[in-house]
Amino acid sequence: MSASQPLPLSTPQGNGLRLEHISKHFSGTGNDTPLHVLDNIQLDIAPGEFITIVGASGCGKSTLLRLILGLDEEFDGRLLLDDRPIKGTGLERGIVFQDHRLFPWLTVEQNVAVGLKNAPLTPAQKRETVREHIHLVGLQDFTESYPHQISGGMAQRVAIARGLVNRPSVLLLDEPFGALDALTRTRLQRELQNIWQQEKITMVHVTHDVDEAVYLGDRVVVMQPHPGRIRRILDIDLPRPRNRSDARFIALRDDVLSDFAEVS
Ligand SMILES: Nc1ncnc2c1ncn2[C@@H]1O[C@H](COP(=O)(O)OP(=O)(O)OP(=O)(O)O)[C@@H](O)[C@H]1O
Ligand SMILES: [Mg+2]
Repeated sequence: MSASQPLPLSTPQGNGLRLEHISKHFSGTGNDTPLHVLDNIQLDIAPGEFITIVGASGCGKSTLLRLILGLDEEFDGRLLLDDRPIKGTGLERGIVFQDHRLFPWLTVEQNVAVGLKNAPLTPAQKRETVREHIHLVGLQDFTESYPHQISGGMAQRVAIARGLVNRPSVLLLDEPFGALDALTRTRLQRELQNIWQQEKITMVHVTHDVDEAVYLGDRVVVMQPHPGRIRRILDIDLPRPRNRSDARFIALRDDVLSDFAEVS
């Protein structure tokens, strides 16, 4: 463990993330009528909650994360984090994408440090924070490696460390394990849960994998397309770490899966 002063969390207290009547249209898509992508999304996410979002391809999951990240401000409704409207990107919101998006010419350590570019820290604090986060994802023996020298699962760990390095209060994850093999995915799900328990941050995790959604989520948000909207929200009231062969786990997973059987 580090002997230095721990850095403060961005905003662990507050009212969390509020999605209030969010609707989104894309114009200029070749049609006369704008594409209606999100319709009246309403969701209150408590600080420290783990929310998973599942839904068919094209139902607007990534669009929703882009709005929360502040990359797109053209939408109807309100987005609040701890009672303040979200304006543009900010250090209190981190993201991890499906493809790790690491810079190939930078080492693991340098890639994580990229996340701290705008952080109000001294160079020594930055070095220490990077070191702590590389430790957090178990890559302390690979700090000097380049992305091509590590596996896909390790690259995703680097991306998670980079997403967390500013100690955001919210981490957005857009199918972070989608490109990994089943064994690596299962392992990283467990690791992500451990990190979440340790860091106590809010997670908004998009996945195609219903099993993953039930394994990780305090609540699973099921979306449906045309236009993208919330179909329902399930509470996953199972102790952690969850046992995938538990009858209640299987029943909840089948319950979510049944939504996909009905939606075409
Ligand atoms: N910049 C854009 N301009 C126009 N249309 C867009 C744009 N971005 C996304 N869309 C459209 O919005 C809809 C939702 O896209 P989005 O990527 O959010 O879906 P998704 O749920 O993340 O899908 P997937 O599961 O395949 O990742 C799609 O019909 C897509 O074509
Ligand atoms: Mg997507």
